[in-house]
Amino acid sequence: MRIGILSGGGDAPGINAVIRAVVRRGLQHGDEVVGIRDGWRGLLEGSFLPLDLNSVSGILPRGGSILGTSRTNPFKREGGPELIVRRAGEAGLEAVVAVGGEDTLGVAHRLADCGLRCVGVPKTIDNDLVGTDYTFGFHTAVAIATEALDRLHTTAEAHHRVIILEVMGRYTGHIALHAGLAGGADVILIPERPFELEEVCEYLRRRRERGRNFSLIVVAEGAKPRGGREIVYSESVDEFGHVTLGGVGYYLAREIERLTGMETRVVVLGHLQRGGSPTPFDRILATRFGVAAVDLVHQGKFDHMVALRGGGIVSVPLAEVIGKRKTVDPKLYEVATVFFG
Ligand code: F6P
Repeated sequence: MRIGILSGGGDAPGINAVIRAVVRRGLQHGDEVVGIRDGWRGLLEGSFLPLDLNSVSGILPRGGSILGTSRTNPFKREGGPELIVRRAGEAGLEAVVAVGGEDTLGVAHRLADCGLRCVGVPKTIDNDLVGTDYTFGFHTAVAIATEALDRLHTTAEAHHRVIILEVMGRYTGHIALHAGLAGGADVILIPERPFELEEVCEYLRRRRERGRNFSLIVVAEGAKPRGGREIVYSESVDEFGHVTLGGVGYYLAREIERLTGMETRVVVLGHLQRGGSPTPFDRILATRFGVAAVDLVHQGKFDHMVALRGGGIVSVPLAEVIGKRKTVDPKLYEVATVFFG
């Protein structure tokens, strides 16, 4: 078969591991694999990159995507979906493996109605896709945020400061919660649990009273005060309707200094969480996903994505995934609260 592969949305460590696995498994099946540049934009523009054994050699540990990525939404372009199907036909693509999060896979699902045969691979550092225990990229982002916390810990302690680490995650707190647990944060603030400023300050005061005159707070970019809304870096929306979140850490720092008088600093981890080499967990998960995606193509299981469930790789209909959001496990958050303050 002739199989196309694209990566869409924000990059995540492990995309190249998926591409490598799709090419290697495809070759075992006797397939030809064609890279599509920059997500759905590559199909709109007919921008392709033939992939063979040599082109995927050495890319397993590399971050980013050798194909590039974009947040292009063909449904926002006049005649976009029809053009995509036409271009895929002209390129002789019999199936497309779409590596992405809810936006990219949502396009794949809608394009099924236009006749495009897609299989999805769940990718996002946010880990907010339903249907899979983990997306690849998440584990690496958590490892990076945890290392940042370990480093901030020593400075916070030496300077007797409050340090706030703002992490990504959009409207969910998976990265914040996992990194906060692993890095021993004194408070973790996530979108799923709007916060009360006074309560946050109380935790800090309690620590000071018992002689711990420094604290570490992890805040997810989408966290918001009770009754308030998310703090945005920019109101302008991308083609999927998302604003750019960011700045809640600075808001918190100002308020904490005002309410407690404690010297406070902020670190916004930003795109460091998406860059660089994937962890072994993400390399293995991405590899398993890539192999399974090609197998799904050969089983004719289109409009599905591969997924991790209880340690095994399964397939899930995209219809069960799109339009939903996986939020953090409340029980895990309860565990984290044991260590607050
Ligand atoms: O979805 C991944 C993600 O990194 C989010 O956590 C974040 O809100 C967003 O992408 C940032 O997007 P951009 O790279 O376009 O600034």
